[in-house]
Amino acid sequence: MKPIFELTPRQIVRALNSYIIGQDNAKKAVGIALRNRWRRYRIEDEIREEIIPNNILMIGPTGVGKSEIARRLAQLAGAPFVKVEASKFTEVGYVGRDVESMVRDLAEMAVAQVRAEWIEEVEDDAARQTEERLLDFLLPLPPKPRAKRSFALEDLLPPELKNRTNADESKVGEESSEYLERRNRTREKLRERLRDGKLDNHKVDIKLPERGTGMMQVFGPAGMEEMGINIQELFGGMLPKRNKPRTVTVSDARRLITAEEVDKLLDMDAVVTEALRRTEQLGIIFLDEIDKIAASEPGHGPDVSREGVQRDILPVIEGTRIATKYGPVRTDHILFIAAGAFHVAKPSDMIPELQGRFPIRVELDALETNDFIRILTEPKNALIKQYTALLAAEGVELQFDKSAIREVAQFAAKINERTENIGARRLHTVMTTLLEEILFKVPSKTISEVKVTRKMVRERLADLAEDEDLSRYIL
Ligand SMILES: Nc1ncnc2c1ncn2[C@@H]1O[C@H](COP(=O)(O)OP(=O)(O)OP(=O)(O)O)[C@@H](O)[C@H]1O
Ligand SMILES: [Mg+2]
Repeated sequence: MKPIFELTPRQIVRALNSYIIGQDNAKKAVGIALRNRWRRYRIEDEIREEIIPNNILMIGPTGVGKSEIARRLAQLAGAPFVKVEASKFTEVGYVGRDVESMVRDLAEMAVAQVRAEWIEEVEDDAARQTEERLLDFLLPLPPKPRAKRSFALEDLLPPELKNRTNADESKVGEESSEYLERRNRTREKLRERLRDGKLDNHKVDIKLPERGTGMMQVFGPAGMEEMGINIQELFGGMLPKRNKPRTVTVSDARRLITAEEVDKLLDMDAVVTEALRRTEQLGIIFLDEIDKIAASEPGHGPDVSREGVQRDILPVIEGTRIATKYGPVRTDHILFIAAGAFHVAKPSDMIPELQGRFPIRVELDALETNDFIRILTEPKNALIKQYTALLAAEGVELQFDKSAIREVAQFAAKINERTENIGARRLHTVMTTLLEEILFKVPSKTISEVKVTRKMVRERLADLAEDEDLSRYIL
Protein backbone atom coordinates (compact mmCIF):
# COMPACT_ATOMS: atom_id res chain seq x y z
CA MET A 1 0.00 0.00 0.00
CA LYS A 2 1.15 3.49 -0.81
CA PRO A 3 2.18 5.66 2.12
CA ILE A 4 -0.61 7.87 3.35
CA PHE A 5 1.41 10.86 2.23
CA GLU A 6 0.97 9.88 -1.40
CA LEU A 7 -2.71 9.00 -1.30
CA THR A 8 -5.22 11.18 -3.09
CA PRO A 9 -8.26 12.36 -1.15
CA ARG A 10 -10.33 9.73 -2.92
CA GLN A 11 -7.92 6.98 -1.97
CA ILE A 12 -7.90 8.07 1.63
CA VAL A 13 -11.68 8.01 1.72
CA ARG A 14 -11.65 4.59 0.12
CA ALA A 15 -9.19 3.28 2.68
CA LEU A 16 -11.37 4.60 5.48
CA ASN A 17 -14.44 3.10 3.83
CA SER A 18 -13.24 -0.40 4.58
CA TYR A 19 -13.81 0.32 8.26
CA ILE A 20 -16.13 3.25 8.68
CA ILE A 21 -19.68 3.38 7.43
CA GLY A 22 -21.05 6.74 6.35
CA GLN A 23 -19.59 9.94 7.84
CA ASP A 24 -18.62 11.04 4.36
CA ASN A 25 -18.03 14.67 5.31
CA ALA A 26 -15.53 13.75 7.95
CA LYS A 27 -13.71 11.36 5.67
CA LYS A 28 -13.58 13.95 2.91
CA ALA A 29 -12.24 16.66 5.20
CA VAL A 30 -9.53 14.32 6.44
CA GLY A 31 -8.69 13.32 2.88
CA ILE A 32 -8.34 16.92 1.75
CA ALA A 33 -6.32 18.01 4.77
CA LEU A 34 -3.88 15.17 4.29
CA ARG A 35 -3.53 15.75 0.59
CA ASN A 36 -2.96 19.43 1.14
CA ARG A 37 0.19 18.62 2.97
CA TRP A 38 1.45 16.70 -0.03
CA ARG A 39 0.49 19.63 -2.24
CA ARG A 40 2.17 22.09 0.06
CA TYR A 41 5.25 19.95 0.04
CA ARG A 42 5.57 20.23 -3.71
CA ILE A 43 5.61 23.99 -3.88
CA GLU A 44 8.59 26.25 -3.55
CA ASP A 45 9.95 27.10 -0.20
CA GLU A 46 8.78 30.64 0.34
CA ILE A 47 5.07 30.22 0.02
CA ARG A 48 5.26 26.75 1.47
CA GLU A 49 6.13 28.16 4.83
CA GLU A 50 3.07 30.39 4.65
CA ILE A 51 0.59 27.61 4.17
CA ILE A 52 -0.84 26.54 7.48
CA PRO A 53 -2.42 23.15 7.99
CA ASN A 54 -6.20 22.75 7.82
CA ASN A 55 -6.76 21.60 11.35
CA ILE A 56 -10.04 19.78 11.66
CA LEU A 57 -12.58 19.65 14.43
CA MET A 58 -14.86 16.62 14.28
CA ILE A 59 -18.08 17.02 16.16
CA GLY A 60 -20.59 14.27 16.66
CA PRO A 61 -22.49 12.20 19.18
CA THR A 62 -20.96 9.29 21.05
CA GLY A 63 -20.13 6.12 19.18
CA VAL A 64 -20.47 7.31 15.61
CA GLY A 65 -16.92 6.79 14.45
CA LYS A 66 -14.79 9.75 15.52
CA SER A 67 -12.13 7.78 17.30
CA GLU A 68 -12.50 4.98 14.82
CA ILE A 69 -11.46 7.33 12.02
CA ALA A 70 -8.35 8.20 14.02
CA ARG A 71 -7.56 4.56 14.69
CA ARG A 72 -7.78 3.72 11.01
CA LEU A 73 -5.76 6.73 9.93
CA ALA A 74 -3.03 5.54 12.24
CA GLN A 75 -2.85 2.32 10.29
CA LEU A 76 -2.28 4.01 6.98
CA ALA A 77 1.46 4.03 7.01
CA GLY A 78 3.84 6.76 6.04
CA ALA A 79 3.11 9.77 8.20
CA PRO A 80 3.94 9.90 11.88
CA PHE A 81 0.68 9.80 13.77
CA VAL A 82 -0.28 9.94 17.43
CA LYS A 83 -3.63 9.99 19.14
CA VAL A 84 -4.00 11.56 22.56
CA GLU A 85 -6.99 12.03 24.78
CA ALA A 86 -7.08 15.72 25.60
CA SER A 87 -8.87 14.82 28.81
CA LYS A 88 -5.76 13.15 30.16
CA PHE A 89 -4.13 16.53 30.58
CA THR A 90 -6.69 17.44 33.20
CA GLU A 91 -5.90 14.42 35.31
CA VAL A 92 -4.41 14.68 38.75
CA GLY A 93 -0.69 15.10 38.70
CA TYR A 94 -0.75 16.98 35.49
CA VAL A 95 2.01 19.52 34.99
CA GLY A 96 1.82 22.20 32.39
CA ARG A 97 4.73 20.87 30.43
CA ASP A 98 3.03 17.59 29.81
CA VAL A 99 1.09 18.68 26.74
CA GLU A 100 4.40 18.79 24.93
CA SER A 101 4.69 15.06 25.38
CA MET A 102 2.40 14.56 22.39
CA VAL A 103 5.01 16.10 20.15
CA ARG A 104 7.75 14.02 21.72
CA ASP A 105 5.64 10.93 21.14
CA LEU A 106 5.19 11.98 17.56
CA ALA A 107 8.95 12.32 17.08
CA GLU A 108 9.39 8.92 18.69
CA MET A 109 6.89 7.42 16.26
CA ALA A 110 8.65 9.04 13.34
CA VAL A 111 12.03 7.64 14.37
CA ALA A 112 10.55 4.17 14.74
CA GLN A 113 8.88 4.51 11.36
CA VAL A 114 11.92 5.71 9.46
CA ARG A 115 14.05 3.12 11.18
CA ALA A 116 11.68 0.35 10.18
CA GLU A 117 11.63 1.55 6.58
CA TRP A 118 15.36 1.90 6.32
CA ILE A 119 16.01 -1.40 7.97
CA GLU A 120 14.33 -2.98 4.98
CA GLU A 121 16.96 -1.43 2.79
CA VAL A 122 19.92 -2.73 4.74
CA GLU A 123 18.33 -6.06 5.57
CA ASP A 124 20.01 -7.95 2.76
CA ASP A 125 23.44 -6.62 3.63
CA ALA A 126 22.84 -7.29 7.29
CA ALA A 127 21.75 -10.84 6.53
CA ARG A 128 24.91 -11.44 4.50
CA GLN A 129 27.15 -10.09 7.24
CA THR A 130 25.26 -12.05 9.82
CA GLU A 131 25.77 -15.27 7.94
CA GLU A 132 29.52 -14.73 7.74
CA ARG A 133 29.74 -13.93 11.42
CA LEU A 134 27.64 -16.91 12.33
CA LEU A 135 29.98 -19.10 10.34
CA ASP A 136 32.94 -17.55 12.15
CA PHE A 137 31.33 -18.49 15.44
CA LEU A 138 30.42 -21.96 14.26
CA LEU A 139 33.83 -22.64 12.84
CA PRO A 140 36.22 -20.69 15.02
CA LEU A 141 39.79 -20.29 13.87
CA PRO A 142 42.03 -22.71 15.64
CA PRO A 143 43.61 -21.09 18.67
CA LYS A 144 47.25 -20.14 18.20
CA PRO A 145 50.07 -20.96 18.49
CA ARG A 146 49.45 -24.67 18.99
CA ALA A 147 46.28 -25.25 17.16
CA LYS A 148 43.76 -27.66 18.49
CA ARG A 149 40.95 -29.19 16.68
CA SER A 150 37.57 -27.69 17.39
CA PHE A 151 35.36 -30.41 18.70
CA ALA A 152 32.26 -28.30 18.43
CA LEU A 153 32.83 -28.13 14.74
CA GLU A 154 33.08 -31.87 14.38
CA ASP A 155 29.72 -32.31 16.03
CA LEU A 156 28.08 -30.03 13.58
CA LEU A 157 29.38 -31.71 10.49
CA PRO A 158 27.40 -34.12 8.38
CA PRO A 159 28.79 -37.69 8.74
CA GLU A 160 30.57 -37.66 5.39
CA LEU A 161 32.85 -34.91 6.61
CA LYS A 162 33.80 -36.62 9.82
CA ASN A 163 36.81 -38.33 8.38
CA ARG A 164 39.72 -36.50 9.77
CA THR A 165 42.81 -38.53 10.45
CA ASN A 166 45.73 -37.94 12.70
CA ALA A 167 47.70 -36.89 9.72
CA ASP A 168 45.27 -34.08 9.13
CA GLU A 169 45.60 -33.12 12.71
CA SER A 170 49.30 -32.59 12.53
CA LYS A 171 48.85 -30.14 9.73
CA VAL A 172 46.43 -28.00 11.64
CA GLY A 173 48.02 -24.70 12.43
CA GLU A 174 50.49 -24.98 9.64
CA GLU A 175 47.91 -23.33 7.47
CA SER A 176 48.85 -25.51 4.61
CA SER A 177 46.88 -24.81 1.51
CA GLU A 178 45.30 -28.19 1.86
CA TYR A 179 44.09 -27.33 5.30
CA LEU A 180 42.75 -23.99 4.18
CA GLU A 181 40.94 -25.62 1.35
CA ARG A 182 39.37 -28.11 3.68
CA ARG A 183 38.37 -25.35 5.99
CA ASN A 184 36.72 -23.52 3.17
CA ARG A 185 34.89 -26.59 2.07
CA THR A 186 33.66 -27.14 5.59
CA ARG A 187 32.57 -23.56 5.82
CA GLU A 188 30.57 -23.85 2.64
CA LYS A 189 28.94 -27.08 3.82
CA LEU A 190 28.04 -25.39 7.05
CA ARG A 191 26.68 -22.45 5.15
CA GLU A 192 24.37 -24.73 3.26
CA ARG A 193 23.12 -26.38 6.40
CA LEU A 194 22.74 -23.00 8.01
CA ARG A 195 20.64 -21.73 5.14
CA ASP A 196 18.46 -24.82 5.23
CA GLY A 197 17.78 -24.08 8.86
CA LYS A 198 19.27 -27.41 9.89
CA LEU A 199 21.48 -25.80 12.51
CA ASP A 200 18.85 -23.55 14.03
CA ASN A 201 18.61 -25.48 17.26
CA HIS A 202 22.32 -26.02 17.67
CA LYS A 203 24.09 -24.22 20.44
CA VAL A 204 26.85 -21.85 19.56
CA ASP A 205 29.18 -19.68 21.63
CA ILE A 206 29.03 -16.07 20.64
CA LYS A 207 30.51 -12.85 21.89
CA LEU A 208 28.51 -9.70 21.39
CA PRO A 209 28.83 -6.28 22.93
CA GLU A 210 26.21 -5.93 25.62
CA ARG A 211 23.37 -3.57 24.99
CA GLY A 212 22.73 -0.96 27.63
CA THR A 213 24.81 -0.61 30.74
CA GLY A 214 23.21 -3.33 32.78
CA MET A 215 25.73 -2.75 35.55
CA MET A 216 24.65 0.59 36.75
CA GLN A 217 21.36 2.30 37.25
CA VAL A 218 21.62 6.01 36.68
CA PHE A 219 18.95 8.31 38.00
CA GLY A 220 18.69 11.72 36.51
CA PRO A 221 17.37 14.81 38.21
CA ALA A 222 13.59 14.90 38.33
CA GLY A 223 12.10 16.28 35.17
CA MET A 224 14.65 14.84 32.80
CA GLU A 225 12.46 11.88 32.02
CA GLU A 226 9.71 14.25 31.26
CA MET A 227 11.76 16.04 28.69
CA GLY A 228 12.35 12.75 27.02
CA ILE A 229 15.99 12.70 27.95
CA ASN A 230 17.22 9.38 29.08
CA ILE A 231 20.30 9.66 31.24
CA GLN A 232 20.95 5.99 30.79
CA GLU A 233 21.27 6.55 27.07
CA LEU A 234 23.35 9.67 27.45
CA PHE A 235 25.98 7.98 29.52
CA GLY A 236 25.48 4.47 28.24
CA GLY A 237 27.62 5.22 25.23
CA MET A 238 30.49 6.44 27.38
CA LEU A 239 30.93 3.23 29.29
CA PRO A 240 33.23 0.64 27.78
CA LYS A 241 31.33 -1.97 25.85
CA ARG A 242 31.76 -5.40 27.33
CA ASN A 243 31.94 -8.42 25.16
CA LYS A 244 30.09 -11.01 27.09
CA PRO A 245 30.46 -14.55 25.85
CA ARG A 246 27.35 -16.65 25.92
CA THR A 247 25.90 -19.80 24.53
CA VAL A 248 22.75 -19.51 22.53
CA THR A 249 20.98 -21.38 19.77
CA VAL A 250 21.94 -20.58 16.22
CA SER A 251 18.55 -19.02 15.55
CA ASP A 252 18.87 -16.75 18.58
CA ALA A 253 22.40 -15.91 17.56
CA ARG A 254 21.17 -14.96 14.13
CA ARG A 255 18.59 -12.62 15.62
CA LEU A 256 21.13 -10.99 17.95
CA ILE A 257 23.81 -10.60 15.34
CA THR A 258 21.34 -9.29 12.77
CA ALA A 259 20.20 -6.61 15.21
CA GLU A 260 23.80 -5.57 15.71
CA GLU A 261 24.59 -5.59 12.01
CA VAL A 262 21.49 -3.52 11.28
CA ASP A 263 22.62 -0.99 13.87
CA LYS A 264 26.01 -0.82 12.21
CA LEU A 265 24.59 -0.34 8.74
CA LEU A 266 21.91 2.14 9.71
CA ASP A 267 23.05 5.69 9.84
CA MET A 268 21.14 6.70 12.95
CA ASP A 269 21.96 10.36 12.50
CA ALA A 270 20.36 10.29 9.08
CA VAL A 271 17.39 8.38 10.46
CA VAL A 272 16.87 11.06 13.07
CA THR A 273 17.22 13.89 10.56
CA GLU A 274 14.64 12.31 8.30
CA ALA A 275 12.36 11.50 11.23
CA LEU A 276 12.43 15.08 12.48
CA ARG A 277 11.69 16.33 9.00
CA ARG A 278 8.68 14.04 8.78
CA THR A 279 7.51 14.98 12.24
CA GLU A 280 7.52 18.64 11.34
CA GLN A 281 6.18 18.40 7.81
CA LEU A 282 3.92 15.35 7.84
CA GLY A 283 3.08 14.73 11.47
CA ILE A 284 -0.55 14.29 12.49
CA ILE A 285 -1.77 14.63 16.05
CA PHE A 286 -5.26 13.45 16.82
CA LEU A 287 -6.65 15.20 19.87
CA ASP A 288 -9.53 13.06 20.98
CA GLU A 289 -12.11 14.04 23.60
CA ILE A 290 -11.32 17.70 23.13
CA ASP A 291 -14.76 18.64 24.47
CA LYS A 292 -13.61 17.34 27.85
CA ILE A 293 -11.30 20.30 28.18
CA ALA A 294 -13.95 22.82 27.18
CA ALA A 295 -16.41 24.28 29.68
CA SER A 296 -18.86 21.86 31.17
CA GLU A 297 -21.51 24.17 32.61
CA PRO A 298 -22.87 26.64 30.13
CA GLY A 299 -22.75 30.19 31.38
CA HIS A 300 -20.08 29.56 33.99
CA GLY A 301 -17.12 29.67 31.72
CA PRO A 302 -14.43 27.04 31.57
CA ASP A 303 -13.11 25.97 34.91
CA VAL A 304 -9.56 26.83 35.66
CA SER A 305 -7.77 23.57 35.01
CA ARG A 306 -9.54 22.96 31.71
CA GLU A 307 -8.92 26.44 30.50
CA GLY A 308 -5.37 25.99 31.69
CA VAL A 309 -5.00 22.94 29.51
CA GLN A 310 -6.42 24.80 26.55
CA ARG A 311 -3.88 27.56 27.11
CA ASP A 312 -1.11 25.01 27.33
CA ILE A 313 -2.16 23.28 24.15
CA LEU A 314 -2.61 26.48 22.20
CA PRO A 315 1.05 27.29 21.52
CA VAL A 316 1.70 23.73 20.41
CA ILE A 317 -1.03 24.09 17.82
CA GLU A 318 -0.07 27.61 16.86
CA GLY A 319 3.51 26.63 16.30
CA THR A 320 6.35 26.49 18.74
CA ARG A 321 9.62 24.71 19.27
CA ILE A 322 9.61 21.67 21.46
CA ALA A 323 12.68 19.95 22.77
CA THR A 324 12.76 16.23 22.18
CA LYS A 325 15.56 13.86 22.84
CA TYR A 326 16.25 13.84 19.11
CA GLY A 327 16.43 17.59 18.84
CA PRO A 328 14.03 20.49 18.64
CA VAL A 329 10.80 20.06 16.69
CA ARG A 330 8.83 22.94 15.24
CA THR A 331 5.09 22.33 15.41
CA ASP A 332 3.90 24.95 12.89
CA HIS A 333 3.00 22.45 10.20
CA ILE A 334 1.86 19.52 12.23
CA LEU A 335 -1.74 18.68 11.37
CA PHE A 336 -4.11 18.55 14.31
CA ILE A 337 -7.39 16.74 14.12
CA ALA A 338 -9.55 17.22 17.18
CA ALA A 339 -12.70 15.35 17.98
CA GLY A 340 -15.38 15.52 20.60
CA ALA A 341 -19.00 14.66 21.24
CA PHE A 342 -19.74 18.18 22.54
CA HIS A 343 -23.00 17.13 24.01
CA VAL A 344 -22.43 19.13 27.16
CA ALA A 345 -19.87 21.72 26.18
CA LYS A 346 -20.05 23.38 22.77
CA PRO A 347 -17.17 24.24 20.49
CA SER A 348 -17.89 27.86 21.36
CA ASP A 349 -17.03 27.06 24.98
CA MET A 350 -13.42 26.65 24.02
CA ILE A 351 -11.20 29.67 24.36
CA PRO A 352 -11.52 31.75 21.17
CA GLU A 353 -7.88 31.37 20.19
CA LEU A 354 -8.23 27.61 20.22
CA GLN A 355 -11.49 27.69 18.27
CA GLY A 356 -9.74 29.75 15.64
CA ARG A 357 -7.08 27.11 15.26
CA PHE A 358 -9.60 24.57 13.99
CA PRO A 359 -11.02 26.25 10.92
CA ILE A 360 -12.54 23.12 9.46
CA ARG A 361 -15.56 21.82 11.29
CA VAL A 362 -17.19 18.59 10.33
CA GLU A 363 -20.23 17.12 11.92
CA LEU A 364 -20.66 13.41 12.12
CA ASP A 365 -24.11 12.03 11.74
CA ALA A 366 -26.02 10.08 14.32
CA LEU A 367 -26.40 6.50 13.21
CA GLU A 368 -29.68 4.76 12.53
CA THR A 369 -30.95 1.31 11.66
CA ASN A 370 -29.63 1.17 8.12
CA ASP A 371 -26.17 2.27 9.21
CA PHE A 372 -26.22 -0.39 11.88
CA ILE A 373 -27.02 -3.07 9.33
CA ARG A 374 -24.01 -2.04 7.33
CA ILE A 375 -21.79 -1.68 10.39
CA LEU A 376 -22.74 -5.19 11.45
CA THR A 377 -21.76 -6.69 8.13
CA GLU A 378 -19.52 -4.54 5.94
CA PRO A 379 -16.38 -3.27 7.69
CA LYS A 380 -13.36 -5.55 7.63
CA ASN A 381 -13.75 -5.90 11.37
CA ALA A 382 -17.55 -6.10 11.34
CA LEU A 383 -19.01 -7.72 14.45
CA ILE A 384 -20.69 -10.52 12.56
CA LYS A 385 -17.40 -11.32 10.84
CA GLN A 386 -15.71 -11.38 14.23
CA TYR A 387 -18.20 -13.76 15.79
CA THR A 388 -18.23 -15.96 12.71
CA ALA A 389 -14.48 -16.30 13.02
CA LEU A 390 -14.65 -16.97 16.75
CA LEU A 391 -17.14 -19.77 16.31
CA ALA A 392 -15.31 -21.14 13.29
CA ALA A 393 -12.40 -21.67 15.64
CA GLU A 394 -14.67 -24.15 17.44
CA GLY A 395 -15.66 -25.75 14.17
CA VAL A 396 -19.07 -24.13 14.27
CA GLU A 397 -20.51 -22.33 11.30
CA LEU A 398 -22.39 -19.20 12.23
CA GLN A 399 -24.97 -17.80 9.86
CA PHE A 400 -27.19 -14.79 10.14
CA ASP A 401 -30.40 -14.45 8.19
CA LYS A 402 -30.77 -11.08 6.55
CA SER A 403 -33.92 -10.49 8.52
CA ALA A 404 -32.09 -11.38 11.72
CA ILE A 405 -29.46 -8.75 11.03
CA ARG A 406 -32.13 -6.16 10.43
CA GLU A 407 -33.80 -7.17 13.65
CA VAL A 408 -30.57 -6.73 15.61
CA ALA A 409 -30.04 -3.31 14.05
CA GLN A 410 -33.57 -2.27 14.88
CA PHE A 411 -33.23 -3.39 18.45
CA ALA A 412 -30.04 -1.42 18.82
CA ALA A 413 -31.64 1.69 17.38
CA LYS A 414 -34.69 1.28 19.58
CA ILE A 415 -32.69 0.91 22.73
CA ASN A 416 -30.53 3.88 21.81
CA GLU A 417 -33.69 5.88 21.50
CA ARG A 418 -35.24 4.70 24.73
CA THR A 419 -32.27 4.84 27.01
CA GLU A 420 -29.13 6.60 26.00
CA ASN A 421 -27.79 6.99 22.49
CA ILE A 422 -24.39 5.38 22.51
CA GLY A 423 -24.27 4.91 18.76
CA ALA A 424 -22.69 1.83 17.26
CA ARG A 425 -21.35 0.81 20.64
CA ARG A 426 -24.86 -0.49 21.28
CA LEU A 427 -24.28 -3.17 18.70
CA HIS A 428 -21.56 -4.70 20.83
CA THR A 429 -23.82 -5.14 23.85
CA VAL A 430 -26.74 -6.37 21.80
CA MET A 431 -24.59 -8.93 19.99
CA THR A 432 -22.96 -10.27 23.13
CA THR A 433 -26.37 -10.69 24.73
CA LEU A 434 -27.74 -12.35 21.64
CA LEU A 435 -24.89 -14.80 21.28
CA GLU A 436 -24.05 -15.41 24.90
CA GLU A 437 -25.81 -18.72 25.13
CA ILE A 438 -24.26 -20.07 21.96
CA LEU A 439 -20.80 -18.89 22.96
CA PHE A 440 -21.25 -20.69 26.25
CA LYS A 441 -22.53 -23.93 24.77
CA VAL A 442 -19.87 -24.60 22.17
CA PRO A 443 -17.88 -26.73 21.75
CA SER A 444 -20.57 -29.34 21.72
CA LYS A 445 -20.87 -32.58 19.78
CA THR A 446 -24.38 -31.71 18.71
CA ILE A 447 -23.69 -28.20 17.42
CA SER A 448 -21.89 -27.79 14.12
CA GLU A 449 -23.80 -24.85 12.77
CA VAL A 450 -25.88 -22.04 14.17
CA LYS A 451 -28.39 -20.23 12.09
CA VAL A 452 -29.56 -16.99 13.63
CA THR A 453 -33.09 -16.18 12.53
CA ARG A 454 -35.30 -13.22 13.15
CA LYS A 455 -37.44 -15.29 15.45
CA MET A 456 -34.43 -16.20 17.51
CA VAL A 457 -33.34 -12.57 17.83
CA ARG A 458 -36.81 -11.62 18.98
CA GLU A 459 -36.96 -14.38 21.53
CA ARG A 460 -33.58 -13.60 22.94
CA LEU A 461 -33.98 -9.84 23.06
CA ALA A 462 -37.65 -8.97 23.24
CA ASP A 463 -38.07 -9.25 27.00
CA LEU A 464 -35.00 -7.20 27.61
CA ALA A 465 -35.96 -4.54 25.14
CA GLU A 466 -39.43 -4.20 26.56
CA ASP A 467 -38.27 -3.80 30.11
CA GLU A 468 -36.56 -0.46 30.23
CA ASP A 469 -34.85 -1.08 33.54
CA LEU A 470 -33.45 -4.36 32.41
CA SER A 471 -32.22 -3.03 29.11
CA ARG A 472 -30.53 -0.17 30.89
CA TYR A 473 -28.37 -2.66 32.72
CA ILE A 474 -27.86 -5.37 30.21
CA LEU A 475 -27.93 -3.88 26.75
N1 LIG B 1 -19.48 4.91 11.28
C1 LIG B 1 -19.07 3.74 11.81
N2 LIG B 1 -18.73 2.72 11.02
C2 LIG B 1 -18.31 1.54 11.55
N3 LIG B 1 -18.18 1.31 12.85
C3 LIG B 1 -18.49 2.30 13.70
C4 LIG B 1 -18.93 3.57 13.22
N4 LIG B 1 -19.16 4.36 14.28
C5 LIG B 1 -18.85 3.63 15.36
N5 LIG B 1 -18.47 2.39 15.03
C6 LIG B 1 -18.14 1.32 15.97
O1 LIG B 1 -18.41 1.79 17.29
C7 LIG B 1 -17.25 1.84 18.11
C8 LIG B 1 -17.21 3.15 18.86
O2 LIG B 1 -16.98 4.22 17.96
P1 LIG B 1 -15.92 5.39 18.22
O3 LIG B 1 -14.90 4.92 19.16
O4 LIG B 1 -15.45 5.90 16.93
O5 LIG B 1 -16.84 6.43 18.93
P2 LIG B 1 -16.64 8.00 19.06
O6 LIG B 1 -17.35 8.64 17.92
O7 LIG B 1 -15.22 8.32 19.20
O8 LIG B 1 -17.46 8.28 20.39
P3 LIG B 1 -17.03 9.07 21.74
O9 LIG B 1 -17.51 10.47 21.55
O10 LIG B 1 -17.83 8.36 22.79
O11 LIG B 1 -15.58 8.94 21.90
C9 LIG B 1 -16.10 1.69 17.14
O12 LIG B 1 -15.08 0.94 17.73
C10 LIG B 1 -16.70 0.95 15.97
O13 LIG B 1 -16.63 -0.43 16.17
MG1 LIG C 1 -14.02 8.63 20.89
